[in-house]
Amino acid sequence: MPLTLATVPCLEDNYAFLIANDAGEAALVDAPEAAPINAELEKRGWSLKTVLLTHHHWDHVEGLDSLTGRDDLTVIGAKADEHRLPTLDHAYSDGDSFTLLGEEVQVFDVSGHTLGHIAFYLPASGLVFSGDSLMALGCGRLFEGSPELMHDSMNKFATLPETTLVCSGHEYTASNGRFAATVDPDNKALALRNIETAKIRAQGGFTVPSTLALERATNPFLRANEPSIKSAIGLPNATDKESFTKLRAMKDAF
Ligand SMILES: [Fe+2]
Repeated sequence: MPLTLATVPCLEDNYAFLIANDAGEAALVDAPEAAPINAELEKRGWSLKTVLLTHHHWDHVEGLDSLTGRDDLTVIGAKADEHRLPTLDHAYSDGDSFTLLGEEVQVFDVSGHTLGHIAFYLPASGLVFSGDSLMALGCGRLFEGSPELMHDSMNKFATLPETTLVCSGHEYTASNGRFAATVDPDNKALALRNIETAKIRAQGGFTVPSTLALERATNPFLRANEPSIKSAIGLPNATDKESFTKLRAMKDAF
């Protein structure tokens, strides 16, 4: 029985995610702000047991101490980031796995946005929680890591099954789409996605989570290897890493 997923908008444009089993036991991924998360738990009658943290930025951890039942929560995060995350009960590294709500969780190091950024992949439910690494139609800004490192991180997501739901940390899809259209102008799937995104946002909906199939078809940061993109950014003979590096620099200046 797959876990039930609830997407919780927080702060201005953050997302937190709740997952729960049939018994109503829940886990939270990232804690930007407690009030909307506590309200969602109450509405669904779920009991929060565990909090997973993707990275140390304040807008992913700030709400932790005001969560319902805080004293009994098990907090999980990256071993590499233990020194600057809230106190962890369990710390994991790339390649580790653990059991959560009866399901296997695989941990990937997806550094680049920060060093020590991790993602959580739940193969049985087909969910990946990518924080600010792989994002809808984009990838996180490189505050601590190199473009090469982020490219390696993107390649870890690229191998997951197409139906995987990508649960990422922000609603940036519309602006990401405006940039993507400039470097992948002939991509029909991207043009359709941009139209769909505008429609969803006009109705107040969320464009996150997305599917990995959609990201592969439209996200330039998963498509740095495409000859059409390399040509569009003026680097027809570039390696995939060089192409990714230029894409990231262009996005920063966009
Ligand atoms: Fe961040």
